[in-house]
Amino acid sequence: MTLSSPEELQAAAKQHLWMHFTRMSAYDNGDIPVIVRGSGPYVYDDKGKRYLDGLAGLFVSMIGHGRTELAEAASKQASELAYFPLWSYAHPAAVQLASRLAELAPGDLNRVFFTTSGSEAVESAWKLAKQYFKLRGEPGRYKVLSRDIAYHGTSMGALAVTGLAAIKGDFEPLPPGGVRVPNTNFYRAPDFVADDIDKFSVWAADEIERSILREGPDSVAAVYLEPVQNSGGCFPPPPGYFQRVREICDRYGVLLVSDEVICAFGRLGYYFGSERYGYVPDIITFAKGVTSGYAPLGGMIVRDELIEPFLSGSATFLHGITFAGHPVSSAVALANLDVFEHDNILGNVRANEDGFRATLEKLRDLPIVGDVRGAGYFYGIELVKDKTTKETFDDDESERLLRGFLSHALFDAGLVCRADDRGDPVIQLAPPLICTQEHFDEMEQILRAVLTEAWTKI
Ligand SMILES: Cc1ncc(COP(=O)(O)O)c(C=O)c1O
Repeated sequence: MTLSSPEELQAAAKQHLWMHFTRMSAYDNGDIPVIVRGSGPYVYDDKGKRYLDGLAGLFVSMIGHGRTELAEAASKQASELAYFPLWSYAHPAAVQLASRLAELAPGDLNRVFFTTSGSEAVESAWKLAKQYFKLRGEPGRYKVLSRDIAYHGTSMGALAVTGLAAIKGDFEPLPPGGVRVPNTNFYRAPDFVADDIDKFSVWAADEIERSILREGPDSVAAVYLEPVQNSGGCFPPPPGYFQRVREICDRYGVLLVSDEVICAFGRLGYYFGSERYGYVPDIITFAKGVTSGYAPLGGMIVRDELIEPFLSGSATFLHGITFAGHPVSSAVALANLDVFEHDNILGNVRANEDGFRATLEKLRDLPIVGDVRGAGYFYGIELVKDKTTKETFDDDESERLLRGFLSHALFDAGLVCRADDRGDPVIQLAPPLICTQEHFDEMEQILRAVLTEAWTKI
């Protein structure tokens, strides 16, 4: 079965492929988009139509599509050593990558535990925290705090860390210990701190302390925070937030996990988002951009202190994943980091991020645009029914607007991005880090046309 024509592919996709987080019925009367190739910040479908990849696939394609150096690195590694596990063995690509990541990571985060995905990284960090505290004589610490509406993955443990009730209910009971704290959505800050971002910052950080005290400090293992929270539409941290959270974590002996599955590898103009905001976490979880998607890889980078109890006697971290730190993925990640250096990818983000922001800010003149927020190459545009009151759409309107119109209309107009209503309705943008002003302008023009039309449909 070769399935070479678009029609054959379409029919087979409808019959055999199960898309993720996708209503399958959405394609009863329409085609499943089939993307066949990519070049730079653009991808092409099976009919040859071009799209600007405004979401880097899924926050993944940092250096853009079609980079043959990474394909060649994969091919070379697969020819030399396609697979060997990290269970009791090492292989050069994983060793080199671990060393390079340790060099790039802040503070004394020097030890790398590889996984294959972000969910596994989040889950691994929780397992490490639990076993670490047992070895350190604090066996009661198992709970993890994370923020409202934050997404941290889909495996059972990662889902327990996730703050999105709507995607959890069907899978309960989940592992116990997930506790929610407020996020840093200043646009919808509670009234008593809504006029002062510094007060808001103190309040949001102190809510973490209050939660630790409520739960009992001896029962809390870790706090999971993204440098900029994705779900809900890009909530950057208010000034001083992470410094205060760091102090709180230190005060109660709680580990700070910086979930950088999206925010690492240049998304915010730095190798790690924690670097941008000037804090040193205990654990960084990463995935996605580490390989720019040319092969799957994830992992966690941990402080020296966290491996300490595992370095003597019979102590063993009782955790492992067959394909973690896969030789091909590790080789691809090394080649990806070479491109970062050679092409000055971080420099491009830093030089152009103000332009990206200014271009998206132009959309504020549209009646449907309530807020434009983010940092680096990572933005959310919140859609509202009334700009003055910030009234949002009810479930029905949101369904009609986002699923019924915007998602298709933006794609049809040639822009890959995400219309998301897991919190308030937002459009998410996270383009490849090679984008420049011409691509921002293209995004703005498409968004302007489609959002203008959307307003007429409300
Ligand atoms: C912050 C964060 N953590 C974890 C994950 C889970 O990663 P994966 O889909 O690779 O399991 C994601 C995925 O989008 C994420 O954004």
